[in-house]
This record gives sequence, structure tokens and C-alpha cells, in this order.
Amino acid sequence: EKKPKKTTNEKVEQLGQYYTVDEGKDLTTNQGLKMTNDEFSLKAGERGPTLMEDFHFREKMTHFDHERIPERVVHARGYGVHGEFQVYESLERYTRAKFLTDPTKKTPVFVRFSTVAGSRGSADVPRDVRGFAVKFYTEEGNYDLVGNNIPVFFIQDAIKFPDLVHALKPEPHNEIPQAATAHDTFWDFIANNQESAHMIMWAMSDRSIPRSYRMMEGFGVHTFRLVNAAGEAFFVKFHWKPLLGVHSVCWDEAQKINGKDPDFHRRDLYEAVENGDYPEWELGLQIIPEADEFKFDFDILDPTKIWPEEDIPVQRVGKMTLNRNVENVFAETEQVAFHPGHVVPGIDFTNDPLLQGRLFSYTDTQLIRLGGPNFHELPINRPVCPFHNNQRDGYGRQTINVGRVSYSKNSLANNTPRPVPAEDGGYEHYQEKVEGRKVRARSESFADHFTQAAMFWNSMSDVEKEHMINAFSFELGKCETESVRIQVLEMISNISHELAKPVAENLGLPVPSQKPLLTDKASSALSQMNTVKKPDT
Ligand code: HEM
Repeated sequence: EKKPKKTTNEKVEQLGQYYTVDEGKDLTTNQGLKMTNDEFSLKAGERGPTLMEDFHFREKMTHFDHERIPERVVHARGYGVHGEFQVYESLERYTRAKFLTDPTKKTPVFVRFSTVAGSRGSADVPRDVRGFAVKFYTEEGNYDLVGNNIPVFFIQDAIKFPDLVHALKPEPHNEIPQAATAHDTFWDFIANNQESAHMIMWAMSDRSIPRSYRMMEGFGVHTFRLVNAAGEAFFVKFHWKPLLGVHSVCWDEAQKINGKDPDFHRRDLYEAVENGDYPEWELGLQIIPEADEFKFDFDILDPTKIWPEEDIPVQRVGKMTLNRNVENVFAETEQVAFHPGHVVPGIDFTNDPLLQGRLFSYTDTQLIRLGGPNFHELPINRPVCPFHNNQRDGYGRQTINVGRVSYSKNSLANNTPRPVPAEDGGYEHYQEKVEGRKVRARSESFADHFTQAAMFWNSMSDVEKEHMINAFSFELGKCETESVRIQVLEMISNISHELAKPVAENLGLPVPSQKPLLTDKASSALSQMNTVKKPDT
């Protein structure tokens, strides 16, 4: 059968200059010296010891000894594909980002899908959140939309992320289990951090066992900001809607698949792209004008909340097509460095306290994962537009900067590289007014943890509810400490008795008393433990 021709784009062509084909070539050392033999080390006598002077042996072995880099601290197992994005109509009303205002432009993208908890060699279909990270190589620089397949998150403040991850990763004393949600420390974290109530409902739903990467939604999770050329700003949530629809496997299928084909999702994606069955997603936007910031009964900066689609409809504004597999998984999928802080003019941040901390974490981890400050020079991370500044040197530097001036301001080099005014494409941060006392605190507007969790439960069909009851029973059944199980049952009885009762029965534990659906006020009282009181003004 004839394979479709490989699709290309500006980014793939740029990568092409780094491709090296070794097949059919002479064998040399890294210094270009042709070698007569690659099978036998240099010995003192045929049966004698290997000689120190065997530079060929040493070079080959040393390189091999250094082949591994650390896996990502989270999202270690992933799979990447190239593609393109095109906006349907100009979104200039909301943003000045060029890739969102020029409908004739196809912007190259690289997407990496992942699980969160398992290590690089773990199975593809555990019950887990999936990462959905998109790098747009725009003419104004790289823009990264680093999302997940679930629209909310476990925690409200980035300072808790190390705690969350320590709880969901394999337990440190025995490195068991790979599965995030099937052990004591995970449930202990959930029960003691009740802001996770909404997320745990999504995690125990079929959303966390997708049928295929091609059949998952994606969400930016945080509230971001779009800014137009006139300087007007809009709050925005980003969505990816798969044109194949959203589909999951059943838990029984997931367990069998993990045994029979741990590469199930990567194989599915690789084969679809190889066969020309290119997966597609529409980019969706939910937009709230600045003036409406406080019109909702939840805080729009709270990453444990969705914006209900019936109130704030998702506008489908463009399409992404994934159409080319990588040539080399290490050089592309592993070396790619996503970061929510990679933005272009017209896209900005908000004060979501989870987002604010992410803006620090990604570059920081990549400095060690990718070995120093020059990982932006790795082929997959280079923008397709030129980049110039006064940064110099460092481990692994590839660029040869010509000239003697590497400081600003200067007159010797006519003050280059020159800052660029906003009207000519320079990035200008949105001038949000900020004032307040320095406090370690959480706003009381973040305190209702249960209303949306209950809304999620109520939106489920009977079959979906049954799957969730089974999921809670199975996963919580792996939690060996009874007191933790009881705490979780108490917690979910704040969401729905219809859920808590059968789970308690399945676990052979006392059924918690039925609780009225918490109002904002009651829920706020319940979470006081975690909320620091506002200081007197
Ligand atoms: C990967 C930190 C929350 C999506 C990572 C990595 C770190 C990290 C350190 C590894 C990056 C690398 O090695 O290149 C954090 C922190 C968070 C947070 C501190 C909260 C405070 C989130 C949220 C989302 C998300 C809310 C989704 C909206 C991802 C994805 C990846 C990732 C998709 C994998 C990127 C890839 O494929 O290379 N995160 N994360 N993270 N994170 Fe987060």
C-alpha cells in the first residue's frame, strides 16, 4: 500500500538542516577519523587486556555512558507529533497575536501528549490526567499552550505542586505504584486538600482513561488574557475540541490494554499519522470581558473551576491538524521544552496563583533536564523567526556570536540589538493595576470546593455514574489505611450522597451521613482550615 507523502512545513524544513543519515556512510570517530573495525577493542596480545590508548573504544563507550538525560519530573511518558494550525477568521477584536489574526497563515505546531505520574517507560492507559502541550512556531516567536485533557486542577496555588506530585508519584520507600491514584499517599493528599474535590471527580470519570490521544479534549486550564491592538483586554479560557469526538475505554479494557500493549496510545497516534489519517482539533475560546470579572458565583482566577459552557459558550476559531511523525523521538519529543511563559504579543497572563508559579517552574526544571542555559538552541526549540540578544556562552553553546559588544546600552555597536516598540511588534505586558498587602493567603472567593464538583456529578448519565462509583471503589480500595478511606468518603459525601453511599458499601465502610449540598458560605466555613484570614484593613 502506498504511504502518503510526508507533509512538511516551515519548522520541519528548519529541522531538516540538522538531519543526518548514517546509513551507507564510512565509519569514523567523532573527529572524522575513518576506522577499520568496530567490533574488537585494542589489546596487548589477542588474549590480553584492553589498552588505555584505544581512543575508539573510549569514545564509543563514554558517549554511550552519557546517553540518558533525566526524565521530566512530571509528564515523563509522552509522544510528540508535528502539525499546523490555521485560524478561521481574524480574531483582531480580541488579540493582536498574528497567528490568530491572519486566516491565510498556516502556523507550524509541535504537540506532545503525555501521562502525568508514570515514568518514561510506563504504560499508556493508566487512570491519569493526560498532558496536551502545543508549541506554535509563530512569526513573532514561540507560543506554548501547555494544557491537560481535564479543564480543572487539583490545587489552587503553585506552592502546593511539589506536595501534590510527591503524593501521586510512586511511594518513595518502595517505588510502587506507577499508577497515580491507586495508593495511600495520593488519597491522603486528596482528603487533606479539599480544593481537589472537583478535579478528583474528573479523575475518577472516564476522562482519565481516553481511547486515543486523537479523541481527547485539551484545556489551557488557567484563565489567560487576550489583548488587542487598542490595548483592550479579555479574559480567555482555551479549549481543544477533537473532531473525532471524545471517547474513552472502560476500566476493564484499560487494564487488559496495559498488559497487552503498553504503547497503545503512541502506536495509535503514530499509525494514524503514518497512514494519512491526520487527527484534527478545533481551537475553542471562552471569553469574558474585563468588565464582567466579578459577575460570576466563582472566582474566574480559580483553576479548580470551569466556566460553564451554557453561560460562556465556546467559540470555535481555528483548526489544528497533526500530520507528520518525528524523525527521532529523543531529538524532538524528549528535547522539546514547553513553558506556559512562552507568549507572543496579544496573549498575556492573569493572577491565577497556579499559573503564576508555573511561570517559574518550567524553565527552571529544563535548565537541569536539558543541561544548561542553551536548550533554546536545540533544533526542536528554535523559533522559526530570528532571535538576537546579548546572552552569551554557557554549556553546549552552538551559536558563534560575531562582534565584541554583548551589552546594552552601547554606542560601539549602534546600540544593537535594539528594543522594539510595541507598535512594531515588541511584547508589552498588559498594564493591569495591582495593589495590596503582602500576605500568604488565599482569597475567600476561592473557598467553595464542592458546588462545581456536584454539578459535574449531576451532569453524568447513569452509566457514567456507575463507572465513577466503580472507579472510586477500585482506586480507593487500593488505599490501605482505613482512616484515609473514611476521610475521603466524608469528603465525597459533600459532593453527592448518591456517590458516597455505594462507594462506602463497596469498601465495607460505614456510610457517611447525607450532607446538604454546601452553599458557598458553608463550603467556605469547611475550608477555613486552608484559608488564611484576610488581614484587617
Ligand atoms: C510538565 C510543573 C501544573 C501541564 C511539567 C514539568 C514541570 C511542571 C516542572 C516538566 C517540564 C519539563 O521537564 O520540560 C508544573 C507546576 C504546576 C503545573 C509547578 C502547577 C503549579 C500544570 C497544569 C497543566 C500542566 C495546570 C495543564 C494545564 C503540563 C504538561 C507538561 C507539564 C502538558 C508536559 C509538557 C511536555 O509534554 O513536555 N509541569 N505543572 N501542568 N505540565 Fe505542568
